[in-house]
Amino acid sequence: MITIALSGTVLANDATPQDAENTTEVQEELYQAVGQDPYQRGTMGFWDQVRQGESGFTTSKGDEHDVLISTPGNTWYILKEKWMSPVGAVAIFGSITMMILFYIIVGPLMLSAPRTGKTILRWTRWDRALHWSMAFTFLTLAFSGLMLVYGKHFLKPYVPSEFWAFIMMLAKQYHNYIGPIFCILLIAVLFKWMSKSFFNKADLQWFLKLGGMVGKHKGTHPSADFSNGGEKALFWLLIICGALVSISGLVLDFPIFGQTRRDMEFSNLVHSLSALILICGFVFHIYIGLFGMEGALEGMVTGEVDETWAKEHHDIWYARVKAEQQRSTVDLDATNKGDSLNEQS
Ligand code: HEM
Repeated sequence: MITIALSGTVLANDATPQDAENTTEVQEELYQAVGQDPYQRGTMGFWDQVRQGESGFTTSKGDEHDVLISTPGNTWYILKEKWMSPVGAVAIFGSITMMILFYIIVGPLMLSAPRTGKTILRWTRWDRALHWSMAFTFLTLAFSGLMLVYGKHFLKPYVPSEFWAFIMMLAKQYHNYIGPIFCILLIAVLFKWMSKSFFNKADLQWFLKLGGMVGKHKGTHPSADFSNGGEKALFWLLIICGALVSISGLVLDFPIFGQTRRDMEFSNLVHSLSALILICGFVFHIYIGLFGMEGALEGMVTGEVDETWAKEHHDIWYARVKAEQQRSTVDLDATNKGDSLNEQS
């Protein structure tokens, strides 16, 4: 009856009370616990076989429909719960702690020269809309995902079970429906910012001088184009780990293409690992944006940066923008001269 109620699956060699005779000592103790009731003894033998991975028959068609309990799933469970989950918690708290220590010990990177009061355009309206949509989507997905993984440890024991169920339902639905939006934004980010994210020689120097942020290099402002080496590294981290998160997330979100349990377990591990790497990477990015570098945030909020900031942090880009501005002024002057000559003649 249990079998039919669960999935309509029946084991090939259905267990009988007689099978109980051939069990181990531990099992015998269990049988003694349930007494002489032949029905209970029969179902226990049945579930022993199920747990050992015994398959049965079912009228339902599809891969693994005849497997009630998938024993290899234990490997996934152990990897996820006993390894990934604690290691992930240590990595996230470790990254946040490192950033706090960095702020206390090294301090934020301030501008070396006074501001000029003249600004240049760094991020267009489209850039900013894309950045903040991505930031909002990523952070809320990270929050709901972390809630799904860790909520049972830090929230469940302290709140009424109805509230807990509601929060979990909310986190799951949000994660499932908003996840695909992250994939679309990731593709947009790739096409919008890829061209300025290829590494060059200046980036190597930037890395060798630790971005001009630490120790004897602090305030040396190594050369950089529109993006510096660190930003480019973060961009590619976002693209690679973001693609892994997206593909594995879609496999989990739409289990209608014949995915087996193994496919789902593998996708789940890939999804969690790449999401954890991204979250740790972006703790650093958010630190720099909010507290670590004077003037960075105003660029992403208003679109404009002070010329001093541009010269100190992105000198190659600054020189190019200035040269373009001069060229267009010269072109404009030439056009104006031509117009006035035409008018005179
Ligand atoms: C509170 C959260 C965040 C803050 C304060 C922030 C701040 C910033 C700032 C100030 C910049 C401009 C840096 C510059 O002008 O050189 C930037 C660029 C960028 N941000 Fe964020 N950000 C946040 C979250 C995120 C998130 C969650 C993502 C993606 C998952 C993200 C992806 C990017 C990318 C791809 C760039 C362009 C980097 C490049 O130049 O290649 N940001 N962010």
